[in-house]
Amino acid sequence: MTTGDEIGVFEAIYSARSLRHFKPDPVPDALVEKVIDAAIRASSGGNTQHWSFVVVRDPAVRRAVGALYRKASDYAESIYRDRPTPQHLTDTQNRQFVNNSAYLWDHMADAPILLVPCLARREPPPIETLPPVVQARYARHLVNMARTSGASIYPAVQNIILACRALGLGTVITTNHMLYEDELKALLGIPETVSTFALMPIGFPTRKYGPLTRKPVAEVTWLDGWGQPWKAEAR
Ligand SMILES: Cc1cc2nc3c(=O)[nH]c(=O)nc-3n(C[C@H](O)[C@H](O)[C@H](O)COP(=O)(O)O)c2cc1C
Repeated sequence: MTTGDEIGVFEAIYSARSLRHFKPDPVPDALVEKVIDAAIRASSGGNTQHWSFVVVRDPAVRRAVGALYRKASDYAESIYRDRPTPQHLTDTQNRQFVNNSAYLWDHMADAPILLVPCLARREPPPIETLPPVVQARYARHLVNMARTSGASIYPAVQNIILACRALGLGTVITTNHMLYEDELKALLGIPETVSTFALMPIGFPTRKYGPLTRKPVAEVTWLDGWGQPWKAEAR
């Protein structure tokens, strides 16, 4: 299973930075397949595995997808260009985030592979087919289905990010294209009943991995109830 030169899971987690600058070198199909093979090891609700992955390798199709991403990024540009620095970032970190994101707005098609993780839509079952306990909470059931719609694909997306890191590739999860998802689906012939959940450029990075800086555990963790600070006990 391991090849001997693979990195550990924690090293991958701590260094899998969002990478958006890629060398033009092609990514061997064997690596692409390995990444997708890691993706499909993820869990899915009810073990439905109703995912599929569109690999875009053809330069002309990549350019068309890249043009769509550029169009969708006008929104992101208007939102992020003048966003005040969030409290948890330094001005430099905020500027880097905007500059790196903005680079991708114009360079999505430069990545040798664009990967589109998709999920078949699950239509809500007719109420009369459901057990009484679900019928009694049908409205809530529908809200819950909508809320968890991405939950059966994003674990696979995270596996893609980590597998890329382990294989020396770079990637980033992007979602801007969803503003024009119908156009992307038409371009790639994706059926009406299938939704796209990310557009991931993949290639050999020109920039370095990690470090990843995040808000610390103590700032985002409560113990036994909201508002009660987490304290690790020495046991
Ligand atoms: C749901 C989601 C949507 C994202 N959409 C985009 C996107 O459209 N374009 C982009 O460049 N990055 C996108 N990102 C990447 C984040 O901007 C990135 O993870 C964040 O800035 C942290 O960067 P780092 O992982 O390098 O520290 C997205 C991340 C998530 C989780």
